[in-house]
Amino acid sequence: MSEPAYIHGYTDAEAARLEAQAEFLAPWLFADLDLGGVHTLLEVGIGVGAETRLLRARWPELRVIGADVSQGSLERARQTLAGDLDAGRVTLLRGSGARLPLATASVDAALFVWVLEHVPDPQAVLRDTARCLKPGGRLFAREVYNRSFLVEPRRPVIDEYFDALSEAQRRGGGHPDIAARLPELAERAGLEVIDFRFVPALADGRDPVQRTAFLRYFEGIFRSAEPQIRAAGVFPPERIPEVWRAFDEVVAAPDALLCYIGGRLEARRRA
Ligand SMILES: C[S@@+](CC[C@H](N)C(=O)[O-])C[C@H]1O[C@@H](n2cnc3c(N)ncnc32)[C@H](O)[C@@H]1O
Repeated sequence: MSEPAYIHGYTDAEAARLEAQAEFLAPWLFADLDLGGVHTLLEVGIGVGAETRLLRARWPELRVIGADVSQGSLERARQTLAGDLDAGRVTLLRGSGARLPLATASVDAALFVWVLEHVPDPQAVLRDTARCLKPGGRLFAREVYNRSFLVEPRRPVIDEYFDALSEAQRRGGGHPDIAARLPELAERAGLEVIDFRFVPALADGRDPVQRTAFLRYFEGIFRSAEPQIRAAGVFPPERIPEVWRAFDEVVAAPDALLCYIGGRLEARRRA
């Protein structure tokens, strides 16, 4: 079976980017993630296991069932999580979150990290994940709201490229602003929304080192999508080097600023 479409591509470079991303964003992702009392966690869209490694380190008693549509990513996860797999703490399943090969009411909690933006039918995925939750079981999601991206000093080519990335993602069936839909999708999946928040990441002159790291992090996201953007024909290829020069200029600007807002959902299957 071939790999499904994925705006960042299923390459070794993308696997390394996901691993670096998980480390870099861990303070933001895990700030209010409370998995106390959770024995079995279903991680939908586990990818290469980058978040799982961090989750297992924070909650050593946790048992994780990871599902993903990508065979290549699961093979990589199998290497990263070899010890946990051998110890029976992690199980990997190939399949879509929309048709999970799991019994109804079989897991205590479910987690999505940067997944639903890539799924053509996020409603179906949330519905089947809700089915797998035990009554009272919680669902956590951390998802993107790409319209919120702001970089100063303004460089229009950066905005145009990010718009093109979103357009390529939409054409592939994805949802670059899915965070704004999370509460509605959760309710329609029969879940009770406990909390939904837009959470900003703001990098400015108060911490120039962190600001540079954030700018370069986003540049990495932009670069990973370059082959898909070229293939979709949504951005003039001859202008792509301008994008990388613009990032260098912003990084060098003493008054640079980056603001990005992501969405966090906590919902529960009704008891
Ligand atoms: C951006 S990666 C995130 C991986 C991981 N959650 C992380 O934060 O490192 C998105 C993952 O979702 C997976 N995915 C896309 N559609 C899916 C679906 N319908 N069911 C399960 N996984 C899916 C992709 O294969 C990819 O591995």
